[in-house]
Amino acid sequence: MYISKFSKQFSQLAARALGSQLKAPLTSAPRTSCAYLPRNHDFFPLQHGAFFSTTAANASEEGNEEKQKISVTFVDKDGEEQNIKVPLGTSMLEAAHENDIELEGACEGSLACSTCHVIVMDMEYYNKLEEPTDEENDMLDLAFGLTETSRLGCQVIAKPELDGIRLAIPAASRNMAVDGYKPKPH
Ligand code: FES
Repeated sequence: MYISKFSKQFSQLAARALGSQLKAPLTSAPRTSCAYLPRNHDFFPLQHGAFFSTTAANASEEGNEEKQKISVTFVDKDGEEQNIKVPLGTSMLEAAHENDIELEGACEGSLACSTCHVIVMDMEYYNKLEEPTDEENDMLDLAFGLTETSRLGCQVIAKPELDGIRLAIPAASRNMAVDGYKPKPH
């Protein structure tokens, strides 16, 4: 009998607790929350009552991606210009290769040649570049046609300040890696 009384009290308490749970969410949830919307819902209510479409969000993301690229112009030995869009963080050597621009890069960016030699055509842009490392300077010293604004293309990395940079590709290059390469006898 004692157990049955306890069981009855417990049931009443449980029913009350459940009742308060059922009443609570609609009044306490913030009006602007989208937690109650299906995950793939196409519209999200905003504080001011307007709607924000995921289509617009996608367009905005695409716009951001577009902004993440800079404009770079390569000028070849014949004066032919080729303008490309280069993603931030990409080296000029990689960008040239991805766009079929003839810039050698025999050592593939390991600072063991000078075949990726480029000449920054405007001092203004040259001054925006990071200082060359000793290793880059050593390789540049061996480059043909060295100028005041010469750099190694594999060491010039796209960043927003370089948007609009123009790079001339010298008519000749000295390939240290290949010059010193001796194939092993089989
Ligand atoms: Fe060899 Fe740039 S590719 S130093």
